[in-house]
Amino acid sequence: NVPEPVNETVLNYAPGSRERKQLKEAILEARSKVIDIPMVIGGKEVTTSKKESIHPPHDHKHILANYSQGEKKHVTDAINSALKAKSNWEELAWEQRAAIFLKAADLIAGPYRYKLNAATMLGQSKNAYQAEIDSACELIDFLRFNVKYMTDIYKQQPPVSPRGVWNRLEQRPLEGFVFALTPFNFTAIAGNLPTSAAMMGNVVVWKPANTQIYSANVLMEIFREAGLPDGVINLVYVSGPDAGEVIFNHPDFAGIHFTGSTGVFQDIWKTIGNNIHKYKTYPRIVGETGGKDFILVHGSADVNAASTAIVRGAFEYQGQKCSAASRVYVASSVWPAIKERVLADLANIKMGPVEDFANFVNAVIDEKSFDKLAKYIDAAKKDKSLEIIAGGNYDKSKGYFIEPTIILTKDPNYITMCEELFGPVLTIFVFADKDFEKTLELVDNTSIYALTGAVIAQDRYAIATATNALRNAAGNFYINDKCTGAVVGQQPFGGARGSGTNDKAGSMINLLRWASPRAIKETF
Ligand code: NAD
Ligand code: ALA
Repeated sequence: NVPEPVNETVLNYAPGSRERKQLKEAILEARSKVIDIPMVIGGKEVTTSKKESIHPPHDHKHILANYSQGEKKHVTDAINSALKAKSNWEELAWEQRAAIFLKAADLIAGPYRYKLNAATMLGQSKNAYQAEIDSACELIDFLRFNVKYMTDIYKQQPPVSPRGVWNRLEQRPLEGFVFALTPFNFTAIAGNLPTSAAMMGNVVVWKPANTQIYSANVLMEIFREAGLPDGVINLVYVSGPDAGEVIFNHPDFAGIHFTGSTGVFQDIWKTIGNNIHKYKTYPRIVGETGGKDFILVHGSADVNAASTAIVRGAFEYQGQKCSAASRVYVASSVWPAIKERVLADLANIKMGPVEDFANFVNAVIDEKSFDKLAKYIDAAKKDKSLEIIAGGNYDKSKGYFIEPTIILTKDPNYITMCEELFGPVLTIFVFADKDFEKTLELVDNTSIYALTGAVIAQDRYAIATATNALRNAAGNFYINDKCTGAVVGQQPFGGARGSGTNDKAGSMINLLRWASPRAIKETF
């Protein structure tokens, strides 16, 4: 049996603490040099003459690293390396595979914790606490809990065998390779997607978002130090379309483990559909995609609980969590008190670079995201029917900083109530208390997404009504809590509708997508 997993304790980096000192040292060390980042294909570090620079989003003139930009031939090399590693890897006993991922978790919990957190802070502009819950705790939990779920899969109760017959169920890896295509916003997700497929005996080609390469490089270093054999996970830095063109035309493409935006996933799905006749096997398509996550505040709500849920849910990590609250519906009877508390909290929030641990809000990921958010804010400023009750300022002179912004709308279908903005811009609609049930319909129908949502209420009837009416509006539903912060092993994560295939990251459901069972009947 593998060790029973427990969730990794979150370090708080309090002033004067040992962990704060060590993390600061790791940040200084990372900032003191410009590193070269190679791709890793078949266990070899591969460099190219085309270099791209990586800058902290909060300090975009500083260069952290230069990475080697690959092209289509590197994707082909990665596939060939994966296929070459396949038979040895899948023949290795699952306990041996498990040991590698348990060791990776221990390396992150121990010697790599500060280096990886510093990389996430600098490369993705996460504050110390946000980096700790992502690249340390969530990733450690993914690795340890997934090993436990994997064990449960391999030790499943065998099928019934009548006398004279021995029935078995064999969990095979997929026939071919898996493509892991990962987003910028969680180092934990970037680490989880290739490892969860690899754990089940699959070989993987992994392409991270360009804006996450700085921490992806540390992840790969950890996986290799943990003993991952060459070629099992191949890390390439190529453009998405270039990677897609090679991968989705390859006969051995057996599955995609994707997290990212809905549009990209839908395009990928269409491409796979168009190419379906080219593959040896129907590819597994697993995708966690966008969100337009809500908080619904009933007239019976505890004002403090609701305000904290709104501020933390909407503005932690600059609203760049797939789970972040971006549309809020508040009953008019509690709105004045909530508004006062939310504005007071925001007045105390500091914005600035991650190196100063007092900053709660840091920069958004890149200029493209900054410009898009600024456009929405400008449009809202011009619209006389709207009120901007907080923030509204932005500045990209040093880093991509957008103030936490709240738009108040009288139109529950205003564009920022419907579209995923992926930044610190929240829209609030105030409804008459008597219209609670009508508002439930609005919450359910306003967006194409169904990732996370929360209801804040003391009235048990309201909680029950909302829980029932919104059963398809969120794959992760919270009662009297913010809609972010799912913990591996506690709230398996994922949504349906436009938010994904709901294969619940960090669960047995997800791991089973990377196995192809064979039923064997032997007659005596
Ligand atoms: P993205 O869709 O821009 O990128 C995701 C990955 O796809 C990256 O590696 C990117 O390089 C690649 N890519 C982009 N265009 C491509 C193309 N045409 N062909 C092939 N690959 C392509 O997403 P992002 O900006 O990195 O991440 C933010 C998005 O991810 C948000 O929409 C967010 O809601 C979503 N997300 C969802 C979850 C979830 O669990 N549902 C979790 C995290 C993030
Ligand atoms: N675990 C992350 C959250 O729920 C995705 O915010």
